[in-house]
Amino acid sequence: MRVTLIAGNWKMNKLRKEAVAFAQALPALLPPGHSSELLICPPFTLLWELQPLLAKAGVKMGAQDLFWEDNGAYTGEISASMLLDAGCTHVIIGHSERRQVIGESDLLINKKMHKACQEGLIPILCIGETLEERKAGKAEKVVAGQLKQALAGLSSDRMDKLVIAYEPVWAIGTGVNASGQDAQNICAFIRGQLEEYYGSQLAAAVRILYGGSVKEENIKEFLQQADIDGALIGGASLDAAVFANIVRLGEND
Ligand code: 13P
Repeated sequence: MRVTLIAGNWKMNKLRKEAVAFAQALPALLPPGHSSELLICPPFTLLWELQPLLAKAGVKMGAQDLFWEDNGAYTGEISASMLLDAGCTHVIIGHSERRQVIGESDLLINKKMHKACQEGLIPILCIGETLEERKAGKAEKVVAGQLKQALAGLSSDRMDKLVIAYEPVWAIGTGVNASGQDAQNICAFIRGQLEEYYGSQLAAAVRILYGGSVKEENIKEFLQQADIDGALIGGASLDAAVFANIVRLGEND
């Protein structure tokens, strides 16, 4: 049984005061005894301050990126051990905003995947096609290529806790979400690819999330799908009451 993972990606949002207010309000808003695993990925500057507050709310903490070297002359970068030191359990890798805005390549993403796995940080690997690629009927091909390159050289013994987030680029921050069925089709395809690489047992254990304009109105539709095991939520994760309500709506699945 795969435990549902509801993850918030705050992206480049929130100052300390706002972040602390979120974390302090959350415990009273979450449905008592909920069965989902919860995760918030704040900006680096908030990690140390938030860690105890999130832990108190029963929420794990992840980072939004990492660098593949351990330490040294890499101005502006953050290492896996720094993230672990701050209390992170997870790290988002290969988000489409990093691929598109920063120009991060599949090769760099693969290096980051290796480092996260080596250090025991759980990677949330983001993959997804653009609108042009979808229209051209290339969604599966693109997703398969990103997956293959991100996982290159990673053996199955490091892959059991892996999380994949299928985030179609055209659905991110646009308010236009994929339909539950379209998302399911790609997530099932991704699981099939994982089966080819690592066998059916491991493929059945990996959690695959959907991301892209997830909100209160559509969370149920996604969680009802056989191969969707949770959500990676941007905008709707910034408000504690909305995030908690998404968790609550996901429970009655
Ligand atoms: P939105 O939920 O704001 O569309 O963002 C999705 C996302 O990119 C999560 O990583």
